[in-house]
Amino acid sequence: MRDSVVLYINGRRHELKGEHAFATLSDYLRYERRLTGTKVVCAEGDCGACTVLVGRAGSDRPWRFEPVNACIVQMLQLDGSHVLTIEAVAQPDGSLHEVQRAMCENHGSQCGFCTPGFVMAMLGHFEHHPHRPADRKEIANHLTGNLCRCTGYLPILDAAADVRPERLQSVVARLHTEPLQRALTESTERPLSIAVEGRGRLDAPTTLDALLSLRAAHPDARITAGNTDLGVMINKQKLWPAGSSRHAITTHKVAELDHVTVHEGVVTVGAAATLGALERACETSVPELAKLLRVFASPQIKATATLMGNVANGSPIGDTLPALFALGAEVEAQSLRGARWIPIDALYVGYRALSIAPDEVLTRVRFSVPGDVAVFRAYKVCQRKDLDISFVGASFYLERSAGVVTRARVAYGGVGPTVMRLPAIEARLQGTAISDTQAWDAIADELAASLSPRSDLRGSLEARKILSANLLRKFANELRAEVSA
Ligand SMILES: Cc1cc2nc3c(=O)[nH]c(=O)nc-3n(C[C@H](O)[C@H](O)[C@H](O)COP(=O)(O)OP(=O)(O)OC[C@H]3O[C@@H](n4cnc5c(N)ncnc54)[C@H](O)[C@@H]3O)c2cc1C
Ligand code: FES
Ligand code: FES
Repeated sequence: MRDSVVLYINGRRHELKGEHAFATLSDYLRYERRLTGTKVVCAEGDCGACTVLVGRAGSDRPWRFEPVNACIVQMLQLDGSHVLTIEAVAQPDGSLHEVQRAMCENHGSQCGFCTPGFVMAMLGHFEHHPHRPADRKEIANHLTGNLCRCTGYLPILDAAADVRPERLQSVVARLHTEPLQRALTESTERPLSIAVEGRGRLDAPTTLDALLSLRAAHPDARITAGNTDLGVMINKQKLWPAGSSRHAITTHKVAELDHVTVHEGVVTVGAAATLGALERACETSVPELAKLLRVFASPQIKATATLMGNVANGSPIGDTLPALFALGAEVEAQSLRGARWIPIDALYVGYRALSIAPDEVLTRVRFSVPGDVAVFRAYKVCQRKDLDISFVGASFYLERSAGVVTRARVAYGGVGPTVMRLPAIEARLQGTAISDTQAWDAIADELAASLSPRSDLRGSLEARKILSANLLRKFANELRAEVSA
């Protein structure tokens, strides 16, 4: 067992013990290493000022460097990672990197506070796409996690478009050498366990057996994955209520759980697999889910957040849940006693309350790829297009034959204490002709009448009902347009 976190920052090895392991990466960089180019504004993953690149290997994939929010990631999550900060971007001779040059020459920086974050996010894009100029839409999508208070977005996009592929220098290739990678991998193979009096304890097992044994021995510990929900709570000092064990067991180093597979029409997602990995895997197999994930948080969040974190968090406005309900997903819970698959609509027993035993860990989610006769759609409605929490989410899965619905699954989020299936509406849809506008209209009205959502800061009960009915109408219109195309 190890009791120190090992990582590299800008090509240099760091080994952290005790208190430092619990610090956020932004605090460690700024206060311990004096790498103050990484800025902190919101401290909750929303603005991207703190963006750095983090390189990690997965059990079934090579090293990948992705933008991450340094303000909510804890050092202990970075064990075995290579962090690249803005200080490493300029060339060793002091000349600017091509992305920095383009930002300067296109006036992409005004007060400059957001600029290091934008440069790092842009660099992340070009590290993966070094051979072609930026596609404006693609880069705008990639920068959804970066806010500029001086509203310099157009010059920033101009800068991205002005980056000349032939002049790009890979920071990863310069700093992430083969010997470094080998040394880092060797140093972090063993599981990690760190306990600090008054601060807490963290266990990072590397095998599923070890995870289940730890869970059995510590049923009061908190299971964590990407820490994007918990990281914000830590920053806001709410994570460990008085009297709780202050003990976290993380799944993110368990190799058996770090995978997304699509095999014989079934997608299986391990508890340690990130939403970014899921998005990439679904591009061809379940494109509608990939489309939904494009408006999930930001690339920075998706590089660490997991599907299982979203499922286990159990929020009634968790974006993936209506989609998983409509897809008929199942969630695997494991303990030393064995494994069982729970239909996702049986997992939630109340507001953020899950039907799992104290010794169980959620280990995998699986669902079938919609077949040729099926249609699957997922909608997220929020107040702004990017990086916003859902107001209402809805997903529909249906099978049809000769223009008539033969089977339907309908799920809504944001209209009750949990995401829910609507069996009465599903029954009404069965046997309905897709072309029968009047019937769909009547069912949409019934759907609205069947819901009793609450009014809150985001909107009124009435708005939620109208929106819910209109999402069904929108789905029906899209179906009709598809059939007549
Ligand atoms: C800036 C920002 C934007 C966001 N945007 C969105 C958004 O657009 N849509 C959305 O739905 N959410 C959003 N979120 C919330 C969050 O990112 C997601 O819920 C994410 O999927 C959580 O995954 P995680 O791996 O980070 O979970 P963690 O924070 O590690 O854990 C979340 C919860 O799940 C539990 N848990 C984790 N893994 C397991 C397991 N294997 N077994 C049992 N319990 C487990 C933890 O104890 C915790 O209660 C956002 C968060 C931030 C900070
Ligand atoms: S400081 Fe805003 S995302 Fe980290
Ligand atoms: S340049 Fe001022 S916040 Fe972006």
